[in-house]
Amino acid sequence: MKGNTLILGIESSCDETSVAIVADGKDLLGCEVASQIPLHARFKGVVPEIASRAHLECINTLLYELMDTAGVGFKEITAISAVNRPGLVGSLLVGLTTAKTISWVLEKPFIAINHIHAHIYGAAMSYEKGPSSAFPAVGLVVSGGHTSIYKCISPLDMELLGSTQDDAAGEAFDKVATILDLPYPGGPAIDKLARNGRADAINFPRTWLDRDRFDFSFSGIKTAVLYYVKGKDLSFPDSSHLTEQEKADIAASFQAAVVEVLVEKSIGACKRYNINRLLVGGGVAANSFLRRELVRRTAEENIELVLPDLRFCTDNAAMVAGLGYWRYINGLFDPLDIDVSSVGE
Ligand code: KG4
Ligand code: ZN
Repeated sequence: MKGNTLILGIESSCDETSVAIVADGKDLLGCEVASQIPLHARFKGVVPEIASRAHLECINTLLYELMDTAGVGFKEITAISAVNRPGLVGSLLVGLTTAKTISWVLEKPFIAINHIHAHIYGAAMSYEKGPSSAFPAVGLVVSGGHTSIYKCISPLDMELLGSTQDDAAGEAFDKVATILDLPYPGGPAIDKLARNGRADAINFPRTWLDRDRFDFSFSGIKTAVLYYVKGKDLSFPDSSHLTEQEKADIAASFQAAVVEVLVEKSIGACKRYNINRLLVGGGVAANSFLRRELVRRTAEENIELVLPDLRFCTDNAAMVAGLGYWRYINGLFDPLDIDVSSVGE
């Protein structure tokens, strides 16, 4: 189905190149995602130079594939949106420059998008009553680069309530996976291993910071896991002295500590602002234990929970094109000399 307003979205802020077309901010006509996981796996983390080159190599092909699957011609597109912040500068530049070029050639409006806000809108797109009914809400974004809580009055009015003061939740998952010598990316590997472990085996610290605020800190728990694995005097060089069961217990206990803080802070924000809907986005929102705990606790507190399908938790351009629609209908266009930024609330 083609709507009246077709927005092309482009996402290239980290290690996924993605392009999508969304009609009227809600109907997905097509979404292509090229993951770079195999390219970064042996470095156990995203290498920025490799990431930007890989974006460059595939973005044009992805665009033509998208036009084919969506059955849309370039001239039918109403406006072009791309993420310009926050993210890896070289990676952002590839998507942003592609979007600007299409906008200039087609003489169609260009719209710059905040990646974190797009994750929240991505959750709203999964709401059964439609994204425009998903607001007001509290938004939790948990990814490899960000952990933040927002008060979201509308798709264009998202107020940051708190964010991580050090590592993002996904970063902690990835680093703990490295400590346990698990494959990259670490989040899904911990998720899988933790299913065989006991969440109450080890009492890893829950870092609440100020209980009344919505900031996070995950560097302490990462260090706690490191000392637990290597011993207080670092006498073990790595995790090879551990049995599979011990590793699974560490993964499950670590995961439980991170999840408890994420869930309780999100519920705390809902209560503080008297908002009874919670939108959750970002790669860590794919975590099965987090999803289960969110379902359990929001049901207890009478809060409506909106969780995206797994493929829309991690980076994708559908969320970018969706949010782009709201900026388009409000006339919020951006000039073609707008720059990228590694930071952005
Ligand atoms: O949103 P995303 O694709 O990229 C960023 O914007 O950072 O999130 C990637 C992060 C990685 O840290 C990855 O380990 C984590 O999401 N992740 C998970 C799971 N799937 C992906 N973390 C925990 N459990 C998972 N199942
Ligand atoms: Zn992301």
